[in-house]
Amino acid sequence: MPAQTQPAQAIEALLTEVRSFPPNPSFAASANIQDPGVYEAAAADPEAFWASLARELHWFKPFDNILSWTPPHARWFEGGTLNVAYNCLDRHLSGARRNKAAIIFEGEPGDTRVLTYWDLHREVCKFSNVLKQRGVQKGDRVTIYLPMIPEAAIAMLACARIGAAHSVVFGGFSADSLRERIHDSQSTLLITADGGWRRGNIVRLKAAADEALEGNTSIKQVIVVNRTDDPTRVSMHEGRDHWWHRLMEDAPTHCAAEPMESEDLLYILYTSGSTGKPKGIAHTTGGYLTGVYATTKWIFDMKDSDVYWCTADVGWVTGHSYVVYGPLANGATVLMYEGAPDWPKRDRFWSIIEKFGVTILYTAPTAIRAFMKWGTEWPGKHDLSTLRLLGSVGEPINPEAWIWYHKFIGGERCPIVDTWWQTETGSILITPLPALSTTKPGSASRPFPGISADIVNEHGESVGTGNGGFLVLKKPWPSMLRTLWGDDVRYREVYWSRFEKQGYYFAGDGAKTDSDGDYVLLGRVDDVINVAGHRVSTMEVESALVDHPSVAEAACIGRTHEIKGQAISAFVSIKDGIEHSQELQAELKEHVTKKIGAICRPDDIFFAAELPKTRSGKIMRRLLRDIAEGRALGDTTTLADPSVVAALRSQYEDS
Ligand code: PRX
Repeated sequence: MPAQTQPAQAIEALLTEVRSFPPNPSFAASANIQDPGVYEAAAADPEAFWASLARELHWFKPFDNILSWTPPHARWFEGGTLNVAYNCLDRHLSGARRNKAAIIFEGEPGDTRVLTYWDLHREVCKFSNVLKQRGVQKGDRVTIYLPMIPEAAIAMLACARIGAAHSVVFGGFSADSLRERIHDSQSTLLITADGGWRRGNIVRLKAAADEALEGNTSIKQVIVVNRTDDPTRVSMHEGRDHWWHRLMEDAPTHCAAEPMESEDLLYILYTSGSTGKPKGIAHTTGGYLTGVYATTKWIFDMKDSDVYWCTADVGWVTGHSYVVYGPLANGATVLMYEGAPDWPKRDRFWSIIEKFGVTILYTAPTAIRAFMKWGTEWPGKHDLSTLRLLGSVGEPINPEAWIWYHKFIGGERCPIVDTWWQTETGSILITPLPALSTTKPGSASRPFPGISADIVNEHGESVGTGNGGFLVLKKPWPSMLRTLWGDDVRYREVYWSRFEKQGYYFAGDGAKTDSDGDYVLLGRVDDVINVAGHRVSTMEVESALVDHPSVAEAACIGRTHEIKGQAISAFVSIKDGIEHSQELQAELKEHVTKKIGAICRPDDIFFAAELPKTRSGKIMRRLLRDIAEGRALGDTTTLADPSVVAALRSQYEDS
């Protein structure tokens, strides 16, 4: 039934509603997990709980030890060997799934491709052989810099098949960001494409890759997918660069899956932290796959008949866990879309849902807020009646957006799972279970069975129901990061030093529980900004700004933004003798885009003669936040020079 266009009054009523939503009985009757006792059983013996889920996977050799925990290092399912690609592909080939669609792809220009499990297995085996022929060995790292096309999943699975770890770099990152990530991981092979489609334009990935490789010594081979069919615009370096389709022509179709130890590295994924340098989050094999498999099965209620669409790019962890590994380990049909939600028109998502009969949609609040702004006439043009479950991820979902999603996309019948997790956690940790949880707009419900979370004060003491504090995880879980690639000291410091005495993992998020004990996430408590669901380090943006020859000092903060959740405001003091100008503002924004990528581009740049600092020289970001959001200034007594703030505020108001 198409969504209805609502008069303003009705929308207003929706926005103020505070109802809770008990599970839909007809949904619950056939859900994958229906027994509310699962929470208690898992809490009583979390190791046995996880082991029973791990045993649903295929192991070449069963594990003999569930967990060894030497804080802060966990080892899950030791003694066992398995292969992630085998679990995502080969396991599904003997029965009815072999001819089922594994990936349904829609390119931005409207081209489509369907790969059955049989097809995907063949392509992955062939590409595994290509990688081997190009010298990639078990234990090597491979960087993947691709658009959202099936080759991205094929490349990831091929790495997993032969035991090489992948490091996927989001295609929207700049050449500099790619260079830094290649250097840190010491990858030996890079997989990229000539380009990808975005709002009718070609994003030139190969050109950025060439720039990133200048001066690089680790990459020996580059494999280039021909996506945009305009090879003339791509320069190929003799001996180093090879076209994907050429290498695949003669590649053998058989490639045995490498038996991997449960704790062997599966991938590295870089994410922003509160210091400038991105952190290489390291995920291993058996525990990670158990986490993503189990959460996909229970939270998304994944069934063979589903057409599941997670709109994240494979460049982010959501793409790793819930586009590729979790759904394919469940034998699901995964929809992949390459482009923007408003191209060529603002109903592209809804037209895709109608066209392919999507049953499960997993997207981000920032997208939902944009859809709200565009109006209900866009979803209203399409039949969305195939949808049966909706998910949200990446940032807190505001109740207005939740209700809108429920009403206009879910037709008031689909459960919504607001899922909290992080690159570091590997899989969803706080979430409703659709047949068991009474959901409420703005709450991510409760920890997944087997997960031990709490909200604590700065001394690590539980704050109790209804109070706010720091979100912590009290016990190891299978899909947790194992370390930061090449920097275990930083791993200990970032996640484990804050509550060292208690041995808790510090998530970096603030949270509170409501009167039912359900979790409400309150956003980051460190110098990380969440821009449109993407983690941006203020320090990284500041470093990019001070890298510009005109800038003396910079401080960035996240200010509230209607669509993106947060937007970056940069306060910049420029060097003597340089003029403030709109041109310079534009140039600085461009400089950040070039240095890091468009997601880090500041929305506003304010010039300041000086930045407000404490007497010990620390920039008082809290005051900048107050200024940017037009609030009354908080405590200014620790400022070295109070006149700086007054000057800044008047400049801000004038701009
Ligand atoms: O602040 C939390 C926010 O996103 C951060 C993790 O970002 P990243 O590693 O990029 O992974 C994003 C996708 C899992 C968290 O520390 N976050 C994620 N999901 C939610 C959320 N905040 C509130 N509610 C959520 N559902």
